[in-house]
Amino acid sequence: MTLSLPEKSREVVFAMKPPFPPRPGHPSEYAELVVAIVLNPMLNGTTLRLDGALRAPRSIDGTNMNEQSTTYADLADKGFVVTGAAGGIGSAAVRQLVGQGAKVLCLDRDAVGLDKLTDALGANARSMVIDVTDPAQIAEAAQTALAAFGNLGGWINNVGYFSEVRTLDLALDEWRKAITLNLDSAFIGSQAAARVMIPNGCGCIVNVSSNAGVRTSPRNAHYSAAKAGVAHLTRCLAAGWGRTAPASTP
Ligand SMILES: NC(=O)c1ccc[n+]([C@@H]2O[C@H](COP(=O)([O-])OP(=O)(O)OC[C@H]3O[C@@H](n4cnc5c(N)ncnc54)[C@H](O)[C@@H]3O)[C@@H](O)[C@H]2O)c1
Repeated sequence: MTLSLPEKSREVVFAMKPPFPPRPGHPSEYAELVVAIVLNPMLNGTTLRLDGALRAPRSIDGTNMNEQSTTYADLADKGFVVTGAAGGIGSAAVRQLVGQGAKVLCLDRDAVGLDKLTDALGANARSMVIDVTDPAQIAEAAQTALAAFGNLGGWINNVGYFSEVRTLDLALDEWRKAITLNLDSAFIGSQAAARVMIPNGCGCIVNVSSNAGVRTSPRNAHYSAAKAGVAHLTRCLAAGWGRTAPASTP
């Protein structure tokens, strides 16, 4: 796998070789992308898009692609938090992080799903049943991770919510649900993570966006707007906090 870096844009395309035919990506492929960008300061504030496993264009402008090998940071004994850990991409990311030696606090509101995941992974995966849109619960999770692991090396804001509704039929409640679960949750999680990471001098925050954040659809304006917000929130965080905020865009 390679990371292709367009010279002029802030978008990085994560290319898988040989190119796959256009198809929806598998959660483990998305998770691999998330893990690949963890602790890679080169990617600070960029938006990443999966190329080869999704119907994704090569880059924003399609020009001047330079290829660079992906290097994994040493994750041994690094403490992580993953939100939406009981879901498809979240659980795959947890498995890959634990597989590389990291210790992960898994957050989700699905207690059964969390138990299933942590039972399979042993002592390096712990869980907390929380609502990630509640800042108090998220702050408690950050302190729990720090106390349990002794460090907070990474935080992956992965919770999201997708639905398809034509914009003219879109109820305000559905709009707010998409904004809350996709955008508010990324802000709340990023802030809680940074409050621990900045005093400790390091850490990596990954916000999971979507191709929908750059492409248009008449049926998911609410999701697309929220995911575009996640990507730009992440750029702003990176500008303010330094090496703490890549966004991935499966
Ligand atoms: N699956 C895809 O093809 C795809 C494509 C592009 C982007 N994404 C993004 O990737 C991320 C993960 O997608 P997925 O398909 O794995 O999702 P998923 O639906 O499989 O998992 C989401 C998890 O979040 C949890 N969750 C939802 N609301 C919560 C809350 N308030 N508090 C705590 N936990 C909550 C759910 O219980 C679930 O376990 C999302 O942000 C999604 O928008 C997914």
